[in-house]
Amino acid sequence: MKRRDLVFYLPVAVAGGFFAWFGVRTYNLRFRPRPEAGTPTWKAGPRVAVARLGELGVWQARPFLYPLPLGELKAFLLRLPEPAPGGLSVGEEHYLALSRICTHQGCTVNFVPDPEAASLLYNFRYERPFLGCPCHFGAFDPLLGGKAVYGPPRFPLPRLRLEAEGETLYATGHEVPLRPMEGG
Ligand code: FES
Repeated sequence: MKRRDLVFYLPVAVAGGFFAWFGVRTYNLRFRPRPEAGTPTWKAGPRVAVARLGELGVWQARPFLYPLPLGELKAFLLRLPEPAPGGLSVGEEHYLALSRICTHQGCTVNFVPDPEAASLLYNFRYERPFLGCPCHFGAFDPLLGGKAVYGPPRFPLPRLRLEAEGETLYATGHEVPLRPMEGG
């Protein structure tokens, strides 16, 4: 190949590589199917009071720490407008507890209550509040049991088991595998 040809082919190859990378990235971010949260397999753990019934409004979230052998797991309790897979319903009140450890690379996810405002930050428009990861802008849907719905994460956020006794909600265990802490 002559030097003159190289001047032509090199930029073409670079541009082709860029568009191929961009296409794969767009597919992975928006369209590649991700596993459903499904029915959880629980591992029993300590019994920790997390809220009183009626204390949280719909679409309110409360952070809490759940003790594990290797430390405390950051988690959220959310009150939802309808039942979610792996959650607990008490009469008309629907709850879900989720790990806050992102299943992509382990950053701490936040509750994003205003999807309109978040659409600017995350470049992702969603129809309801979600859990968002500030590291690479992954998003998880609580109404789908914590399923990953946008960004690099593939797997759902692990759930914590909830039980109600009297007027109190307790976390009593966690889903396995506890990604990313227990493989997967
Ligand atoms: S660590 Fe959460 S999206 Fe990458």
